[in-house]
Amino acid sequence: MPTLMTETTSLPTPLGGTLVNRVRRPGHDFDPASLDGRPRIEISERTYADLELIATGAYSPLTGFVDEADYASVIERMRLADGTPWSIPITFPVTREDAARLSGTVVLTFGGQDVGTLDVQEHYDARKAWEAREVYRTEDAAHPGVAALYAQGDVNLAGPVTLFEVPRGAFPMHHRTPAEVRQVIEARGWRSTVAFQTRNPIHRAHEYLQKVALELVDGLLLHPLVGTTKGDDVPATTRVEAYEVLLEKYYPQARTLLSVYPAAMRYAGPREAIIHALSRRNYGATHFIVGRDHAGVGSYYGTYDAQEIFRTFTAEELGIRILRFEHTFYCQSCGQLVSPRTCPHDSSHHLVLSGTKVREKLRAGENLPAEFTRPEVAEVLRRAYTRAD
Ligand code: ADX
Repeated sequence: MPTLMTETTSLPTPLGGTLVNRVRRPGHDFDPASLDGRPRIEISERTYADLELIATGAYSPLTGFVDEADYASVIERMRLADGTPWSIPITFPVTREDAARLSGTVVLTFGGQDVGTLDVQEHYDARKAWEAREVYRTEDAAHPGVAALYAQGDVNLAGPVTLFEVPRGAFPMHHRTPAEVRQVIEARGWRSTVAFQTRNPIHRAHEYLQKVALELVDGLLLHPLVGTTKGDDVPATTRVEAYEVLLEKYYPQARTLLSVYPAAMRYAGPREAIIHALSRRNYGATHFIVGRDHAGVGSYYGTYDAQEIFRTFTAEELGIRILRFEHTFYCQSCGQLVSPRTCPHDSSHHLVLSGTKVREKLRAGENLPAEFTRPEVAEVLRRAYTRAD
């Protein structure tokens, strides 16, 4: 019977019961000579991110890239073949030519460096149109997640992985594995932790959601995604810098942890919200924030579809509580951040700025209203935008 809390600590049990660890250091955990002569393949940034997330346990219970039974089961019913909730198949796509030469233990390289292995146990054809329809709810190649799927090879390889070293990337001081985040949570004695996923610069609405949540739980895990995003999203370096300046000035240090989430963004909206929540459970969070159009793009998903989809699973299966928030904005008449649940005024009282409007203002060197973005954050964004031009 799965439980939300383990008996001795307030940390949630990882999905599947055990935090997966597939990090194996050459020369320490195995003899690197054993890989001499093995076939090699260069992996993409997005596959490298998946490799890390699997190997460090963020994607527990996965120990490798999914086989055909899990692939079909996840696409069809949002569960692994054994029934565990899982909403997006984590695949290892290759071209047919590569598939023909890759079998047994394959060495994975990134930027020409050996970074891990895949023990190939199965090859199967990707069913891209079906995957797009079910996972992304569209076959439209203009959707960035669907475009990435269509651009991949046609054959998926499956099998367990190893990772040689956790890549600490561009943010070594903020880069923590699930086990490391769990250690911080334990050391700080938080009995409950809310995780916040984000791929956008932090605005007052985000801050509001985080702080409302922090009224209810002990700790806040600020977990910006820093993997591949679409070209017009604000780069991770800018977003992390904005978080740093904000945390220093406006957040309670002892109750906040800024850590980066290495995943690539898939823009799968509701389906991605589930993976976002389950993986944050693996990082040790007990609660997860889902606001409006979580992980969405364009108008592919309904505003609250990503909240509704969680009703497919029982609370025990999820093992992490979802904190749902309606669209939040500043109301001039209330003089504070509000949502339709808390504000009686009509939209003429509300300050709502589109992403395009924000970019225009920043490019023109204008300030953003302080009710929309903290001045320290606006400054970081303005610098980044004027640098980019
Ligand atoms: S996301 O792709 O990571 O979801 P973003 O960084 O914009 O994009 O959102 C982070 C989280 O904040 C998501 O749960 C999203 O639903 C929520 N959110 C963002 N802006 C608002 C808002 N104005 N009102 C309510 N929720 C919001």
